[in-house]
Amino acid sequence: MDIRGATALITGAASGLGQATAHALAGVGANVVLLDTDTQNGHQIAKQVGGEFTPGDVRNPHDLARSVQVAAAAGPLRVVVNCAGVGDGGRILDREGSPHDLARFERVIGINLTGTFNVLRLSAATIAKLPANGDGERGVIINTASIAGIEGQVGQVAYAASKGGVIGLTLAAARDLGSHGIRVVTIAPGVFATSMADLMPQATRDTQTSNLAFPHRPGQPAEFAALVLAVIANPYLNGETIRLDAGLRMTRR
Ligand SMILES: NC(=O)c1ccc[n+]([C@@H]2O[C@H](COP(=O)([O-])OP(=O)(O)OC[C@H]3O[C@@H](n4cnc5c(N)ncnc54)[C@H](O)[C@@H]3O)[C@@H](O)[C@H]2O)c1
Repeated sequence: MDIRGATALITGAASGLGQATAHALAGVGANVVLLDTDTQNGHQIAKQVGGEFTPGDVRNPHDLARSVQVAAAAGPLRVVVNCAGVGDGGRILDREGSPHDLARFERVIGINLTGTFNVLRLSAATIAKLPANGDGERGVIINTASIAGIEGQVGQVAYAASKGGVIGLTLAAARDLGSHGIRVVTIAPGVFATSMADLMPQATRDTQTSNLAFPHRPGQPAEFAALVLAVIANPYLNGETIRLDAGLRMTRR
């Protein structure tokens, strides 16, 4: 899909993968609208890319309605990239045998899974009203999961469940939205050099890097953004989760 002059809404765009995606999409001529809870960085990145920042939480339908409205006003909303997400560690039973805090589990599911679905459903309603291109396509929604959703490590139960949920909804969403000419594709990154990865214990990072096939380094956010552009450009990619992980297979810990 040619997105020059069209609008792209990016969540989690104030940092890391979302920030790089905002730069890449602005670089190919899209109008970029950013959504994030981080107002300070959000405004700053929006300024850098010549886009608009809309403060908001992906779990909040009112925040999303406003962002989608701003996006649609900037031009036809044809691309949505879900990058907002949080990590949180914790085993089901801690060292003392106490069970995982339920509210912490629900928070991760709420942002990473329910938030992704909230963005997907509300943006799809707007994209579906657009005229289709010659191939019948109206837009594409790209989600960010994680390879932890496939092979999560010890202490990642909430995060793994949330990302497994995003992977699980991908084909179902593509089937639901196919009749509207909207594709849904998920990217499952391995380890990328962002503030989220900085929160990982060094020992875990070292183990993961040693398990990479090649290159032996964390992924760069621009490499994630390059895949976003490739997904947008290729109309035959749909209902799929694409690993972007340099051949990394996570071990138990
Ligand atoms: N960095 C990695 O190694 C890695 C690996 C696999 C998957 N991911 C996923 O990629 C996505 C982007 O992560 P990142 O590495 O860029 O992290 P990051 O922490 O740099 O960026 C995440 C952004 O999401 C925003 N955010 C958090 N909760 C939000 C909410 N409720 N509503 C709106 N915005 C919210 C944060 O403010 C932040 O700007 C996440 O979904 C993450 O789980 C990252």
